[in-house]
Amino acid sequence: MTRRSHANQSNAQPGRTVTGPVSFQIEGPVVTDTFVLHIEFPDAALEFAGPRRTERSAESRLAEAVRLARAIDLAIVGQEIAALGRLRPSTLLGTGKLEEIAKSIAACNAELVIVNAQLTPTQQRNLERAWSAKVLDRTGLILEIFGRRAQTREGSLQVELAHLVYQKSRLVRSWTHLERQRGGSGFLGGPGETQLEADRRVIQMRINKLRKQLSSVAKTRGLHRHARKRVPYPIIALVGYTNAGKSTLFNRLTGASVDARNLLFATLDPTMRQLTLPHGRKAILSDTVGFISDLPTSLVAAFRATLEEVCSADVILHVRDISHPETDAQSRDVHLVLSELGLDEQERDAMIEVWNKSDLLEPDVRHGLLLQSERSASDVCLVSATSGEGIEGLLQVIDDRIAGPVKKFDIKLSPADGADVAWLYQFSEVISRIDLDDGSMCFRVRLEDSRADKAAQRFGKRMRIAPDEAAPGENSIAAE
Ligand code: GTP
Repeated sequence: MTRRSHANQSNAQPGRTVTGPVSFQIEGPVVTDTFVLHIEFPDAALEFAGPRRTERSAESRLAEAVRLARAIDLAIVGQEIAALGRLRPSTLLGTGKLEEIAKSIAACNAELVIVNAQLTPTQQRNLERAWSAKVLDRTGLILEIFGRRAQTREGSLQVELAHLVYQKSRLVRSWTHLERQRGGSGFLGGPGETQLEADRRVIQMRINKLRKQLSSVAKTRGLHRHARKRVPYPIIALVGYTNAGKSTLFNRLTGASVDARNLLFATLDPTMRQLTLPHGRKAILSDTVGFISDLPTSLVAAFRATLEEVCSADVILHVRDISHPETDAQSRDVHLVLSELGLDEQERDAMIEVWNKSDLLEPDVRHGLLLQSERSASDVCLVSATSGEGIEGLLQVIDDRIAGPVKKFDIKLSPADGADVAWLYQFSEVISRIDLDDGSMCFRVRLEDSRADKAAQRFGKRMRIAPDEAAPGENSIAAE
């Protein structure tokens, strides 16, 4: 296993600096020794912590940052929480703290420091100098992870767009004194165009091009969606905080084999598979990117196209790791992102909540949650995607949601009607079956409106609306 040095990659060199995300992905198994630093901000400075800071403990935020770093195979050799007394615009941390952390970093020979906060380019550069190590902030780290996980062309385009938007936002005037004047030469850019302006223009051109490519990819996807709508299979979308178990549940429900590892953001592009519900009803299950707190707004925007799939789904399953101590805060983050995507409160309330990882709960907690889920006014299912517990109940809830209006029918079949019996078990819900002495069978079944016509053709006089469903004068569906 090789250990990689970033000494030659430092962007702390004098002169104009574009402090964008760096790529750590190179061929072969590479390990970068990394120190993770979570910064706890004073209350008065919360806006520095990121756009969507939620109430979490410093320890769990550090643990999450460590998991994020592991998601791109960084080797964590040290971790620490630094509580800020007050903010220093140039380095974020005060001199004493800066030196203290420098010692910790040197002691474990870390080449990379992940700072779990949003840094300005100047702060990033100054920290790199102070610590003699490469520094990456939270947004940069998330972009790295997204870059690694993108599998489709659309995913890659979205990541590149997010990178560029992020990079452009970091081309700030604070380096005016370092800028080179281009002074009128060159084909592009008028006389006196500064390097900064030229950089901005180049990035903007690339952004425009990417947006065009993305919109054509999205159009194609829109056409596919349209085609699917004609199929007419309902679409069920899985959403949830990263690591909640969406891919594992997806696999459990579809019997498919999608990447389900203990890595954050293992899923970046929506994956679609057909799902067969009880009674043979078909649906399309769509797995989506995992959500996370403090997701920079530019990233949410970049993934909007992918996540639009969610908004047009017929049923949304909100998968939650119910065993996580901060499951409620995670759930709030998911709601926040969904509302930014345009899903209103009513639509969000209509989501089916899947309380996953029930196998990790203490028996009494599990029992309490089971009661809570059963009594809940909305649809809540306590499940374990790994053990399979509660999955049948979940499928039934999904089935009830997407089933159209249903009616009950009585159907009488003879022993020779084997194929018809099989049809009933596949396409209807058999409520009761009475086997008579002569070998014939009386079924009471529930059928969706959309299937009732087919059933009427198939069973003819052998089928009639069950008495408690029949309106006066409507006692038989088949012409008697
Ligand atoms: P992202 O792609 O990051 O959004 O993650 P995800 O929500 O798709 O989670 P994934 O299915 O990859 O699962 C994350 C981890 O949780 C994996 O290690 C799974 O094995 C584990 N996991 C998922 N469901 C369960 C469960 O019901 N019980 C237990 N014990 N572990 C689970």
